[in-house]
Amino acid sequence: MTRRLATPVGITATGECFPDRIVTNEDLAKMVNTSDEWITTRTGMKLRRWVEPGVGSSDLGSGALKMALDRRGMGADDLDCIIACTVTPDMMFPCTAALIQQKVGASKAFGFDLNAACSSFLFGLTTGAGLIASGTVKRVGVVGCDVMTSIFDKSDRNTAVLFGDGAGAAILEPVEEGYGLLDYEQQIDGSGAPYLCMPAGGSAKPASHATVDAKEHFVHQQGQEVFKNAVREMANVSRLMLDRNNIDPKELTLFVPHQANLRIMDAALKRLELPREKMACNIAEYANTTSATIPTALHQSVVAGKVKKGDLVVLAAFGAGFTWGGALLRWAV
Ligand code: UT7
Repeated sequence: MTRRLATPVGITATGECFPDRIVTNEDLAKMVNTSDEWITTRTGMKLRRWVEPGVGSSDLGSGALKMALDRRGMGADDLDCIIACTVTPDMMFPCTAALIQQKVGASKAFGFDLNAACSSFLFGLTTGAGLIASGTVKRVGVVGCDVMTSIFDKSDRNTAVLFGDGAGAAILEPVEEGYGLLDYEQQIDGSGAPYLCMPAGGSAKPASHATVDAKEHFVHQQGQEVFKNAVREMANVSRLMLDRNNIDPKELTLFVPHQANLRIMDAALKRLELPREKMACNIAEYANTTSATIPTALHQSVVAGKVKKGDLVVLAAFGAGFTWGGALLRWAV
């Protein structure tokens, strides 16, 4: 059964924000025992952006939201709600959405944070669309923002090469019938929790000298387990949505997968029998920015003129939890 909203809701503008500092594979090879060759062939990553100390997710998130508002020709006061999608909030509380609200000056908006790891933006998009469809709000800013450098160990080659910092944003509004979010699928399975997590710093294991000494405030990942689940589920949800809407994959204009590993993205693409040109891909330049991969890859495709009104777009995500899902959109602007 499709999950079509009662009222059509779509993305009417996008934006992004990245820090200036570019870190190359060669830079990383000076920090840990790795090489450009290993990183490129295993992940497809070449560059990533890292913040300077003191820059938080709300700084990048507010930059991305401001760009999206400008591109829409909309003032911050026009926003009714801000959903900040992040695994790296500026602080445990208040929520990062509050900090973004203040930074963009959205005086009439309420907001909250949403954490579903790398699926956060996707879940934020469907949540925001649902709020609009319920008739309670009209304009929602969904922001995917992460400062991953704050939670990985720069001396551990298993994770230090994989992540970047960044933010992407989308404005959601009511759109014409037949456009916008046509369908979505979302899943969660906590049996995947041990394979990708930050073990300490939450209520179950508060910060202590022992947790810091044990490096439990960093990302811990069993890469291969995550890899095989990500390939299977991103392809499955995409195929499921296309099948139940009687859409042939060939009719898609753009496939926007979470950008964690080019091999995962290519494998999902292959299962959908789509050519590379149809995939939004910024992993070589920005690496894995967690909540920001999908909105920034989407934004860059929009700016490059790869999506026009009426085109079919599929977003697909997979992340810690495990969480995963997809969204099928008919581009509305
Ligand atoms: O965004 C959230 C979702 N996350 C994902 O989807 C990530 C999914 N997983 C992956 O993308 C891949 O599993 C990784 C990129 C994380 C790792 O690639 P892999 O092909 O699965 O490598 P591996 O972990 O099996 O490690 C293979 C070898 C190991 O050496 P030994 O034990 O075979 O001697 C690692 O120690 O590669 C070694 N290795 C490295 N060597 C050079 C691990 N990291 C590095 C490195 N440079 N940076």
